[in-house]
Amino acid sequence: MTKHIGILTAGGDSPGLNAAIRGVGKTALGRYGMQVIGFLDGFRGLVDNRSIRLDSDSLSGILTKGGTILGTSRDKPHRMVFGGKKQDMTDVIVENYHANHLDALVCIGGGGTQKNALQLMQKGLNIITLPKTIDNDVALTDTTFGFDTALGIATDAIDRLHSTAHSHHRIIVVEIMGHRAGWLALGSGIAGGADVILIPEIPYRLETVSEAIRKRVQGGKKFSIVAVAEGALPEDQARLVNAARAAKDKATDKKNRKQAKQELSALEAANVNHTVSLSQQLETMTGLESRVTILGHLQRGGTPSAADRLLATRLGSACADLIAQEQFGIMVAARGDDAVAVPLRDVAGNKKLVPRNHPWLISARNVGTVFGDE
Ligand code: F6P
Repeated sequence: MTKHIGILTAGGDSPGLNAAIRGVGKTALGRYGMQVIGFLDGFRGLVDNRSIRLDSDSLSGILTKGGTILGTSRDKPHRMVFGGKKQDMTDVIVENYHANHLDALVCIGGGGTQKNALQLMQKGLNIITLPKTIDNDVALTDTTFGFDTALGIATDAIDRLHSTAHSHHRIIVVEIMGHRAGWLALGSGIAGGADVILIPEIPYRLETVSEAIRKRVQGGKKFSIVAVAEGALPEDQARLVNAARAAKDKATDKKNRKQAKQELSALEAANVNHTVSLSQQLETMTGLESRVTILGHLQRGGTPSAADRLLATRLGSACADLIAQEQFGIMVAARGDDAVAVPLRDVAGNKKLVPRNHPWLISARNVGTVFGDE
């Protein structure tokens, strides 16, 4: 019997999404004779029952395109603004899944999407996910598609900032995305030869950073590049944020949870412009001029790298194979050259952060990169 599958892309967009849609879709159509539809704008399209047919025409010519032909959103099934207020739309999603006679739903997304997908699985739907995000922070997969492209963009930016920092004898503080993980700042910082790299996993001391820059000046290097992850925090701030996060996770009743969430949001809001204030403080402490570059969404835009196209294609096509074998409740993860099925319940809610003993970190320290901690 023909299988009917739905595909959606959710969360922040990421280069390689179209390659993944094509990988799932072409394999499902061509190898297994399945019918494929794509829901628009993430989980929102599943609630509104807005979909398009994915056939060989619509799946052609999209491999090299950035963004997602399906559109995306950060809407969560259980907390979606609908009719002006936040509502749990999970039951509507279940209804629409059955109304479309789906045998499986493919959710392509990052950490948040894995959690949302698990909830739908717990409602009895046949769910299978793929890991995408430029942050590379999804648990149990070697890597996520989008990361390699963003890594290339951020590295190129650091390369370019070098010559202008050098000419003006300035510090340039470059802010790199990554949410609460440091993979993107660490990878591009190492590849681009940043002098200082600050990541969320290693709270930093401002004095250590400025001392490192002053030492470079004494050694005749009157410029410095500081690659800072958007989630990086100075030690004192990190202590407060970590305590607030722990309080939020521990809170059992609704009232305490709400209060803990508010405290955490206030701390996070206070940290929004931390890159600018870091730059200002370094200027004062070192006597060098300092400038800020925030790479922002440039890191997510444009054509995917060859490595991301390859990764998304092989995970996407393995996803269709797993659907044909009726394996559900799983994420298709990259493991070396293989694609392996990992239980969604082991992925959802777990973040892959940079471990202190990661080879990237060790090699960076060996070549003299400063992380602000020692
Ligand atoms: O998760 C990808 C990401 O680009 C993060 O690095 C960043 O923190 C976030 O999304 C930005 O989200 P938005 O596009 O919703 O502003």
